[in-house]
Amino acid sequence: MKSAPKTFAVKSFGCQMNVYDGERMAELMAEQGLAPADAAEADLVVLNTCHIREKATEKVYSDIGRLRKREDGSQPMIAIAGCVAQAEGEEIVRRAKVDVVVGPQAYHNLPQLVADAAAGKPALDTDMPVASKFGVLPARRKVGPSAFLTVQEGCDKFCTYCVVPYTRGAEVSRPFAAIVDEAKALVDAGAREITLLGQNVNAWADEDGGLDHLIRALDRIPGLARIRYTTSHPNDMTQGLIDAHADVESLMPFLHLPVQSGNDRVLKAMNRSHSRSSYLRILDRVRAARPDIALSGDFIVGFPGETDTEFEETLSLVDEVGYAQAFSFKYSPRPGTPAATMPGQIEPHVMDERLQRLQAALNRDQAAFNAASVGKTCAVLIERAGRHPGQMLGKSPWLQSVHLDSDAAIGDLIAVEIVQAGPNSLGGVARLRTAA
Ligand code: 5AD
Ligand code: SF4
Repeated sequence: MKSAPKTFAVKSFGCQMNVYDGERMAELMAEQGLAPADAAEADLVVLNTCHIREKATEKVYSDIGRLRKREDGSQPMIAIAGCVAQAEGEEIVRRAKVDVVVGPQAYHNLPQLVADAAAGKPALDTDMPVASKFGVLPARRKVGPSAFLTVQEGCDKFCTYCVVPYTRGAEVSRPFAAIVDEAKALVDAGAREITLLGQNVNAWADEDGGLDHLIRALDRIPGLARIRYTTSHPNDMTQGLIDAHADVESLMPFLHLPVQSGNDRVLKAMNRSHSRSSYLRILDRVRAARPDIALSGDFIVGFPGETDTEFEETLSLVDEVGYAQAFSFKYSPRPGTPAATMPGQIEPHVMDERLQRLQAALNRDQAAFNAASVGKTCAVLIERAGRHPGQMLGKSPWLQSVHLDSDAAIGDLIAVEIVQAGPNSLGGVARLRTAA
């Protein structure tokens, strides 16, 4: 039995929603009077886990092992949160003897679970209650200039490779008023940019409209300079949302729209419910609304049955779109998903080779996109100090990292001329300071 913890650390893995959930768990534990500490010495360590690919899941077990072998011999209370907690539940307790297991829809109960564990009682909660956790979480504290805000959770799309519908549950939209209140609180706490988060963020809706209606309302919050949203599904890309890209000034010219594959047979086997051409048509409409939009995507190589010719169509789609940046992954069979038992699982060396070719193409396009920024002057939101004295780091409207020598403060939005481009970042020179 462990005594009640006085200090805590939260380590988040995986997606941005986990980062957001991790922040909210930290706020919750701070409200309980626990002090934040380094994971290497905290009394309570929360591992906020990711289940999307096998590697991410295995990382949890190696991290638990590391926590058990601290140099000073101390044994922290270990809480497993996030999607591995949801998917594996009791199995983690059996396999790794952790103290607390809490799913993504139940983490508001973390203080009670920690108290139970300290009292030697079993502490596992992977319920998906009807009443949302958001109603009972403490208000947002101080945040940086760029903050996340979950507006939608879960997925009803059931792509055949994906665990998300099982770990995060059905699609749920948070109420409009709660989101606007949280956005205002974030701005009061220092945010100038808010990224709206959802597994299918553009499926957000209420009785008055879709995500565009929410974005238009957030655009009216004084002090909120930039709005972003991620991750979107092609099928929920409404004309209303596309129109918002044309006329909402604070909505940044960036769209992350995963496609996964450029081949129609593979897309069908993935149950993506869009085709190569319907995806490309959406991008045409988005570009018509906002010609300078930067596009991003997600790709999976080596889905069961994918042939060389089918993979080539992913490469040709990449060539056709010209992504500003993208994420690409080797297919990873996930327990309980339909694709895991499909015939034609692809050999690892074939996957490696395909991933290398795809990443070379994506890197080429990212470098070209960055190079095309040189000579432009754009607004940069200063997010933190750089490595060298006097150097600051910020983001362009197109989500590129920009470093510059400047006396600007964190949170300033300044005009910067881009003078240099690398594969992953830009260098700039401050021009005029824009009015805050
Ligand atoms: N294997 C590999 N990549 C996956 N993704 C989701 N599930 C899997 C899987 N089983 C990728 C998709 C998705 C991103 C979040 O992770 O590209 O868009
Ligand atoms: Fe997973 Fe597909 Fe849902 Fe995205 S849309 S979360 S890839 S099931």
